[in-house]
Amino acid sequence: MPAIVIVGTQWGDEGKGKIVDVLTEKADFVVRFQGGNNAGHTLIINHKKYILHLIPSGIFRPHTTCVIGNGVVVDPEVLIREIENLKNEGLKIDSNKLKISERAHTIMPYHKALDLARENRASREKKGTKIGTTGRGIGPCYEDKAGRRGFRLIDLTYPETFKEKLKTVLEEKNMILKYLGGEPLDFKEIYEKYVYYGNYLKPYLTDVSRVLWEAKREGRKILFEGAQGTFLDIDHGTYPYVTSSNTLAGNACCGSGIGPCEIDRVLGIVKAYTTRVGEGPFPTELKDETGDYLRERGGEYGSTTGRPRRCGWLDLVLVKTAVRLNGIKAIALTKLDVLTGLDTIKVCIAYECNGKVVDSVPSTLIEMAKLKPVYQELPGWKEDIRETKSFEELPENTRKYLRFIEKYLEVPLYLISTGPERENCLYLKNPFEG
Ligand code: GDP
Ligand code: IMO
Ligand code: MG
Repeated sequence: MPAIVIVGTQWGDEGKGKIVDVLTEKADFVVRFQGGNNAGHTLIINHKKYILHLIPSGIFRPHTTCVIGNGVVVDPEVLIREIENLKNEGLKIDSNKLKISERAHTIMPYHKALDLARENRASREKKGTKIGTTGRGIGPCYEDKAGRRGFRLIDLTYPETFKEKLKTVLEEKNMILKYLGGEPLDFKEIYEKYVYYGNYLKPYLTDVSRVLWEAKREGRKILFEGAQGTFLDIDHGTYPYVTSSNTLAGNACCGSGIGPCEIDRVLGIVKAYTTRVGEGPFPTELKDETGDYLRERGGEYGSTTGRPRRCGWLDLVLVKTAVRLNGIKAIALTKLDVLTGLDTIKVCIAYECNGKVVDSVPSTLIEMAKLKPVYQELPGWKEDIRETKSFEELPENTRKYLRFIEKYLEVPLYLISTGPERENCLYLKNPFEG
């Protein structure tokens, strides 16, 4: 079972980084295939916290090769800083350890400026249109990729052609920035910086599709590390409150250059409750003390922007939809320990809409706003479960909660995460096997 795609089943921050780090003990390659440094994947190793934004979460395992696929949008400044920080930690990050697609698109300073200017204008003048982006230039960069105005990382290593195209593109960007109330950007400064970035990154640039093709033929174990989550997907998420890439498992293929038949399994990461950062619909949101309890116990503050995350009960209608959209055949449930101490726990099993009970996620915000969650109440538990070593050792009510989720989703639980450390993990089944 050598190629597994790992995806978030909610609105991101499900604990993908932790699960990828745990599983890379057994993996040879870890591949990012979409998103950019809007992602913040947290790993806690020997009580030390690391937050990765662009580098795949396999970087701390000595035997694992990390790959950034063509579908990722790369802010070279952030990537270089991340590489240098890891080097300072004593890691060797050479072109054997890290491979970056030549075709990955580059986040330029005007992408960040446009992202921020649009969001500022939306909150100033057009109430309700702000997305609550991470301000990292993700949307504008994907726009330029689709609009064929983008720069791929390899393009930075051809200074003369880069110069000519940058002049034309920047002229247009500065006009738009001015219109949005932002400051125009200086050509020379961008040009010189980005030529430097191109030179720095050149040794890492390669044809990732080919690297993965060869790895697959040699029977290497490959993990594809999704960023964001199913309901932030540009097509299938809660549009327009989404990110600008396809976050679903299917995009592991286009975002890295492998064929669909090369994928052997999709593992969905489910947080034991629900969170969301930024604006947009959230049927099970709790704006009360239970929501605060989840936020404080779960440390629910954004890994990228530090914003408090909105918290609510587990929405199984959403997760079951994610099972369908991604072809999820295995589940890792995270942050179960955060629920400890609650008398009762609610789980959303359907919605009520216009007097009818429905079990699907509508495609418009108008319909989403009408949804009222239908809850199943389950008894809570008080025991500390962080150090538990087997499923059988978990309190009876915890096991009931897990069995309820498994039965509703009709997908087996493979892993259960009971704390942020690598060791806080129960293996029910090995995702790399049959
Ligand atoms: P990602 O974006 O999906 O990788 O998730 P984030 O790293 O943004 O957010 C998950 C947060 O929960 C991080 O702070 C993790 O250290 C933490 N975490 C992961 N798994 C667990 C768990 O089982 N229990 C607790 N308490 N924290 C966890
Ligand atoms: P990880 O990989 C949670 C959200 C933003 C915003 C929307 C659009 O850590 O799970 P963008 O900057 O992408 O244009 O913002 O998407 N968002 C995330 N929320 N986790 C993430 O990544 C996210 N990446 C983007 O908060 O609502
Ligand atoms: Mg995150």
